[in-house]
Amino acid sequence: MEVVIVPDAKAGGALIAEAIAALLSRKPDALLGVATGSTPLPVYEALAARVRSGALDASRARICQLDEYVGLPADHPESYRSTVLRQVVEPLGLTESSFMGPDGNAEDVQGACDAYDRALAEAGGVDLQLLGIGTDGHIGFNEPCSSLASRTRIKTLTEQTRQDNARFFAGIDEVPHHVITQGIGTILEARHLVLLATGAGKAEAVARSVEGPVSALVPASALQLHPHATVVVDEAAASRLKLADYFRATYAAKPAWQGL
Ligand code: GLP
Repeated sequence: MEVVIVPDAKAGGALIAEAIAALLSRKPDALLGVATGSTPLPVYEALAARVRSGALDASRARICQLDEYVGLPADHPESYRSTVLRQVVEPLGLTESSFMGPDGNAEDVQGACDAYDRALAEAGGVDLQLLGIGTDGHIGFNEPCSSLASRTRIKTLTEQTRQDNARFFAGIDEVPHHVITQGIGTILEARHLVLLATGAGKAEAVARSVEGPVSALVPASALQLHPHATVVVDEAAASRLKLADYFRATYAAKPAWQGL
């Protein structure tokens, strides 16, 4: 995988927004998989700024969700559906018709998961999937020991992830225990995976994902199996990488026209 070390989160957001803009100029109706959490916000802000300035026409882009809480009403402000509509779909000037996500309130949860996997395939597959990373190395909501071949399904959150996400709710008791997440196998089908990690709190998870063995214990290490995976990290999140200097030199030598 390619590892790009940037000075800070804003620079990471700008770099990834540039790659998404380049994709949309090649393929205006690209299917963009988006992630929630705090980390990708600089990407969405940089993309929205490009749209506002007229530099980017995202009007034909399609957006799809990575994961969702089970049992939160769809219009709950912290459902991932509401979050993606608020943070991505609306700022890009898109409507709900451009947006796909799994139904976290379906009576038949596994049926809804299977339907979402089918819908992604029928939409032509995800062109670029943006990912964050949990402090335990999870991607989407694929917690440690998720099958590396998993499909979209229901998962139970670890206490650590519920604590990490409690800041978005009134307290930890309000954080759902169950979620739907694209499986690791589903995520690996996207044509380009771009993982953004910022801050020292992610340094250990990044090092284990990038330089450790591929292991279900560290779900993000599955990116090592993908032919086009890019990991963008700020200096703090890169601080545990043994090969940081090599990654810097490799990226510095890369022709600018190649993009991510
Ligand atoms: C949640 C999301 C992940 C995200 C992670 C990290 O668990 N399901 O997609 O990567 O949070 O969030 P943050 O970027 O806020 O650290």
